[in-house]
Amino acid sequence: MAKQNLKERTLVIIKPDALQRNLLGEIVGRFEKKGLKIVGLKMVRLSDVLLNEHYGHHKDKPFFTGLKNFMKSAPVVVMVAEGLEAIQVTRVIVGPTSGRVALGGTIRGDLCISTQANIVHASDSLVAARAEIKRFFTPRELFDYQKADFHFTYGEEERALV
Ligand code: CMP
Repeated sequence: MAKQNLKERTLVIIKPDALQRNLLGEIVGRFEKKGLKIVGLKMVRLSDVLLNEHYGHHKDKPFFTGLKNFMKSAPVVVMVAEGLEAIQVTRVIVGPTSGRVALGGTIRGDLCISTQANIVHASDSLVAARAEIKRFFTPRELFDYQKADFHFTYGEEERALV
């Protein structure tokens, strides 16, 4: 297991359905309120080349073409969230793939009823997070800064895990 650190980063894609359904602020707000630090954020339109790479592991699935069409149907917002166990924390607050089985309280459980139009994508491992962040952001687009609420976001032992 990777050493715990306060600067673990994960990639989140806020999908076209979220933008169309006016949920952008709500979603970004959930990450902020949780205590994750947003260190990168931008709007992009996804290309076939990028989607073939990002969803390459799904290329033989029956939903692959539909998924790509959906992901190209409007811009997406890509975001890098940072914090202690950011990858796992993000997966917990996002919930499982299908909005129909995701529990209330999670982003998908509260905000969607679909498997494809499931509001967000989030990295599922350290290896994936590293590759996905590199895929969507240049180093200059990611920011290192102090949060004013740091002392009240983490406890003493956690704050020492720099
Ligand atoms: P995401 O977390 O971005 O990872 C792969 C995506 O494929 C997933 O979210 C859904 O948007 C989509 N997906 C996964 N399973 C299905 C399915 N059975 N039918 C349609 N879309 C799916």
